[in-house]
Amino acid sequence: MSKGRVLSGMRPTGRLHLGHLFGALENWSRLQEEYECYFFVADWHALTTEYEETKDIRENTREMVLDMLAAGIDTSKATLFLQSRLHEHAELHLLLSMITPVPWLERNPTYKEQQQELTTKDLSTYGFLGYPVLMASDILIYKANYVPVGIDQVPHLELAREIARRFNHLYGEVFVEPKALLTAFAKVPGTDGRKMSKSYGNAIYLTDSPEQVTAKVKPMVTDPARVRRSDPGNPDVCPVFDLHKIFTPKGERDAIIDPGCRTAGIGCLDCKGILLNHMLPALRPIYERRRDLATRPSIVQEELEDGYFRAKKVAGETLAEVKEAMQI
Ligand code: TRP
Ligand code: SF4
Repeated sequence: MSKGRVLSGMRPTGRLHLGHLFGALENWSRLQEEYECYFFVADWHALTTEYEETKDIRENTREMVLDMLAAGIDTSKATLFLQSRLHEHAELHLLLSMITPVPWLERNPTYKEQQQELTTKDLSTYGFLGYPVLMASDILIYKANYVPVGIDQVPHLELAREIARRFNHLYGEVFVEPKALLTAFAKVPGTDGRKMSKSYGNAIYLTDSPEQVTAKVKPMVTDPARVRRSDPGNPDVCPVFDLHKIFTPKGERDAIIDPGCRTAGIGCLDCKGILLNHMLPALRPIYERRRDLATRPSIVQEELEDGYFRAKKVAGETLAEVKEAMQI
């Protein structure tokens, strides 16, 4: 029945927003219907850049798990776990590090980019260089066939494939070569028109109440050239319209919003009102589920513990095969 194994992880960045919902979680929820899915919180990966400031990692993990459950990750279908609970990942990471040439890691574009961009952090560490080896371990230990990731993660996935090939060549066929699952995602703009991101302060969170969502949408940036109500607008450059593409049915968008904007038939406030009429009912069930889950103090721990046992069964089996193949 299952079309194969899917695995994906997220670093524990804290509460999730609409960018995560439409960039990953909706896709994960669909995948869990047809594939054997493993989803996890990559807290060790958080350490590769946050090793100096670890105090938020546990709380961020908790918030993230609550958001994942509220957004539709169903643990009767998918296995949801915490990376640092599975020492098998760390052991495989060590073994794979023995066969991974350092130049493969040094030429990784993400490595160079992040070292240049995150200048406030000292990223000249061994752990940061080995980020993709740890990620390869996460994936290969479940023999995942598919890994849903954003385009930025594709070089890491290519490395995982190369490491799998090298291992199989040296010790015999143990690993499956994982494929990236790149889905065409809707663009999710933040309230200021830039990409939605916690660090820009422009995000709409799954924990935001309908009142909070309304208060964030009302003053949202629109087509900057539309200054007066009588000025025609251009939906193609308007972040509000990008949200309409997610929430408003195409028929209504094409018949009312798009022409209304271009002819100044509707004002931006009316347009945002229509958006909210679709957006609030779509987000309300997630918000309410999230609120109810948060009142159950042990739910996160229970879910992660259950996920741990299920993940461990597969991870333990693969690790045993690996050691057998390496004669260790
Ligand atoms: N590197 C991923 C990110 O930052 C998180 C991650 C860690 C991951 N291990 C993984 C994703 C394994 C997919 C598979 O988004
Ligand atoms: Fe944007 Fe809507 Fe205003 Fe047009 S009417 S500029 S789509 S908010």
